Amino acid sequence: MAEPLLEVKDMKVHFKTDDGIVKAVDGVSYSIQPGETLGIVGESGSGKTTLARCIAGLHRSFTGEIALRDVVMPPGARARDREMRQELQYVFQSPYSSLNPRKTIGQIIEQPVRLFFDLDHRQAHERVVSTLERVRLSESVMPRYPHELSGGERQRVAIARALAAEPAVLICDEVTSALDVSVQAAIVDLIAQLQREMDLGLVFVTHNLALIRTIAEEVSVMSAGRIVESGKVEDVLRSPQNAYTKALLADTPTMETALAAAGA
Ligand SMILES: Nc1ncnc2c1ncn2[C@@H]1O[C@H](COP(=O)(O)OP(=O)(O)OP(=O)(O)O)[C@@H](O)[C@H]1O
Ligand SMILES: [Mg+2]
Repeated sequence: MAEPLLEVKDMKVHFKTDDGIVKAVDGVSYSIQPGETLGIVGESGSGKTTLARCIAGLHRSFTGEIALRDVVMPPGARARDREMRQELQYVFQSPYSSLNPRKTIGQIIEQPVRLFFDLDHRQAHERVVSTLERVRLSESVMPRYPHELSGGERQRVAIARALAAEPAVLICDEVTSALDVSVQAAIVDLIAQLQREMDLGLVFVTHNLALIRTIAEEVSVMSAGRIVESGKVEDVLRSPQNAYTKALLADTPTMETALAAAGA
């Protein structure tokens, strides 16, 4: 097999709390190839966000290894070189807190464009416009501020900001959970489409198994900091081997019910 694009080896994150040690992530390993999508599902508290934050460089206290194209990345985004930071981008849950309220949409997207590419003013502007087009937003949103957009539009801006860096890997953690149910499917469809168009390695984290089906080929199921089951999405959904996965499936509405609930 070709060298993995992203590889996580035996990752552990243990938090000391008043109640003792919380093993938030307890020995997780996985890898993805270029252009491949991995879904990670698991109930609340199973360690999904902690794992995603470590990969993104937002949480530094872990043991184990994260490698990008076989190069081990230091923990913490600041210690990573520019190329690593460009290649690995993320979109997190809340488009409300993740966008700077004092910057216009144009400025928000121009930031990574300026940081990672040597473009003159006109070229940078064109890049911002074409990035907005990728997420189906018009140029007319550029002078607006985040609070002047809907939740779904804001999440598109957060996705555009990540894509403006032209990453090889995109980490998405619960990107639809803060959104109205009626726009969730559209955002997932958009990410799936962009993943194909840009040949991204995508890690899509959610507690919603129904969403996984539309976006990922492979899924890993997390419980209490560990991956308890992995495989092709269809196989895992059709015949879950692990008791925890079975329970999770029994609890999850199907895509059909989710879509019906969304009025789609
Ligand atoms: N900074 C922290 N200090 C102590 N414990 C923490 C910290 N961050 C997370 N945890 C604990 O680690 C465990 C995993 O949390 P995490 O946020 O990774 O779960 P999750 O799978 O993303 O859940 P959700 O689906 O609710 O987002 C939980 O028990 C949580 O309480
Ligand atoms: Mg989470």
